[in-house]
Amino acid sequence: MKLEVDAAKLLSEIETLAAISDAEAPAVTRIVFGSADLKARAWLKARCEEAGLAVQQDPIGNTFVRWIGSDPTLPAVGTGSHIDAIPNAGKYDGVVGVLGGLEAIRALQRGGFRPRHSIELLVFTSEEPTRFGIGCIGSRMLSGTLSADAARHLKDGEGVSLDEVREKTDVRGELEAVKLPIAYYKAFVELHIEQGPVLEREQIPLGVVTGIAAPASLNISIEGAGGHAGGVLMPARHDALCAAAELVLSIENAARSSGAVDTVATVGICEVFPGAVNSIPSRVRLSADIRDTDLKRRDGVMQKMESAGKGIAEKRQVSVRTELVNADAPAVCSPLVVEALSESCRKHNLNFLPMVSRAYHDSLFMSRIAPTAMLFIPCRNGYSHRPDEYASPEDIARGTLVLAETLAALSR
Ligand code: GLV
Ligand code: MN
Ligand code: MN
Repeated sequence: MKLEVDAAKLLSEIETLAAISDAEAPAVTRIVFGSADLKARAWLKARCEEAGLAVQQDPIGNTFVRWIGSDPTLPAVGTGSHIDAIPNAGKYDGVVGVLGGLEAIRALQRGGFRPRHSIELLVFTSEEPTRFGIGCIGSRMLSGTLSADAARHLKDGEGVSLDEVREKTDVRGELEAVKLPIAYYKAFVELHIEQGPVLEREQIPLGVVTGIAAPASLNISIEGAGGHAGGVLMPARHDALCAAAELVLSIENAARSSGAVDTVATVGICEVFPGAVNSIPSRVRLSADIRDTDLKRRDGVMQKMESAGKGIAEKRQVSVRTELVNADAPAVCSPLVVEALSESCRKHNLNFLPMVSRAYHDSLFMSRIAPTAMLFIPCRNGYSHRPDEYASPEDIARGTLVLAETLAALSR
């Protein structure tokens, strides 16, 4: 089979999709079920139909794009990623796996390949946690990690439930139907930018992901006492922001002192009430994100955070309440898919690095229900989740070529 990626077409599609955004270029913002996300979905559906593929949507808006194999009764081989983007993001996170997956299928079609197992491109709903506070909503539901009932009651920042948001779109149906049947996929493989600096630093063009780090996230509310910034003397204060500042540093310290470079912790949201320069903060809401390749170590940081919160509450006479949003186990990738990816790299004489993914991906949840692995391409300086995120045309084309080869190998 002659396998050739149409890099010019793929790159121009990446540019077109980047322009469907709520933020001004070069930034990309596409919040799930917002106007840019809905427009992007419609645009993508048209590209898939142009390629002669059957497009279906499930009740949470996961999009399934199927190239039917010669034996449609066999489990499909899946690939895909997401097109939602956090505020002020770049144009490659998720998109390379979606449009690269589509181009991989087109390259196989052009090469005259005929799959025995169907090949399916899957575009997941809300990989990013921006709107509903929890990431990977689509893949959590497909894998049964998030129940229909829990999903139905998720609320966005405006207090609007996921169900109410769905009602304003063409995403309909019973959420109970989202969970996939056992053995739906023979294998699942996701192409993605690395979102870290390793491949670029090592000058290796491809990463074969053997495991995905375990993420957790928490909301923390701190309540103290407000008052006049001039009138309340320092000994009488119960400043919620000062308590929050101590807690943020304790979280950082718990991650730094875990004994492993794989432990990371971030407090990415800090909302201060009432937010006036001459008013003592009475209430603060923090959101923390804690990850590790090792589950016990990750949980150890969460415990240290909990006890730091208790100590700070006691010392400052404030209340600290913690709400767990998610605490997921890490994924071990499937040897079958890791080997198929590695063999495809060898076939094209491309060097690759076995590596872990420190970012989470929908593959974390797909790994619960299907043999799964990921393929990484380098991104400049390891930058991601920022407008200057960049992957070179050569790297995108290489990743797509190896993805296509792997889909062929797995679907024969
Ligand atoms: C995914 O976007 C992540 O935060 O790892
Ligand atoms: Mn992301
Ligand atoms: Mn992503």
